[in-house]
Amino acid sequence: MLEIAPSLLAANWLDLRGSIDLAEAAGADWLHVDIMDGHFVPNLSMGPDVAKAVAQASHLPVEVHLMIEQPELHLDSFLAAKPRAISVHAESSYHLHRLVQRIQAGGCLAGMALNPATPWEHLLPLLPDLDYVLIMTINPGFGGQPFISSMLPKIAALRQYLQAAELDLPIWVDGGVNLSNRVQLKEAGASILVTGSAFFRAEDPARFVRQMKAD
Ligand code: DX5
Ligand code: ZN
Repeated sequence: MLEIAPSLLAANWLDLRGSIDLAEAAGADWLHVDIMDGHFVPNLSMGPDVAKAVAQASHLPVEVHLMIEQPELHLDSFLAAKPRAISVHAESSYHLHRLVQRIQAGGCLAGMALNPATPWEHLLPLLPDLDYVLIMTINPGFGGQPFISSMLPKIAALRQYLQAAELDLPIWVDGGVNLSNRVQLKEAGASILVTGSAFFRAEDPARFVRQMKAD
């Protein structure tokens, strides 16, 4: 079954406690925390202290999505926040395998995120050591952008490869995900759907989560 990870980028930042409670009560599976540095992406968001406060306040596992250059410089602060999982971008550092090792040694699941223009094959040598892959279906930096549907074959090709290689990795999908593309995403082989604006704008978030997960 698909899992749903609301992105706090679209939450009420004056009431993060309320937004976390809302996600829990709605039956979400994860919380997705977007970290932006104004360099890797043209926007700034929250930092490690907010990630830590969220991880402490939430009963749901927290996934930290690092959209920052040289994530190696900040990794220790994010590991100290004790999320369940941390993803770094394959485009953001030279030594991706070392990052994976550091994340896992710090007690977190390690994910590698890919911008739309980066082929999934870039991860081929890393796949056996990863805990998950996160495919961007928008250009990262902002919520509320339209889904890039040409990413569907990329997701499907990665899933096909993983199956043939007998690697049981979750594929996270992030950006523009909503009720109109969730079936295509599921069919392509996605496992966990990040939803920012669609979740937080839903009239009935619990119904939205049920609908997103429906067969
Ligand atoms: C964008 C972030 C996404 C974003 C998704 O850079 O990585 O997680 O919050 O928001 P929606 O679902 O509105 O596209
Ligand atoms: Zn994200």
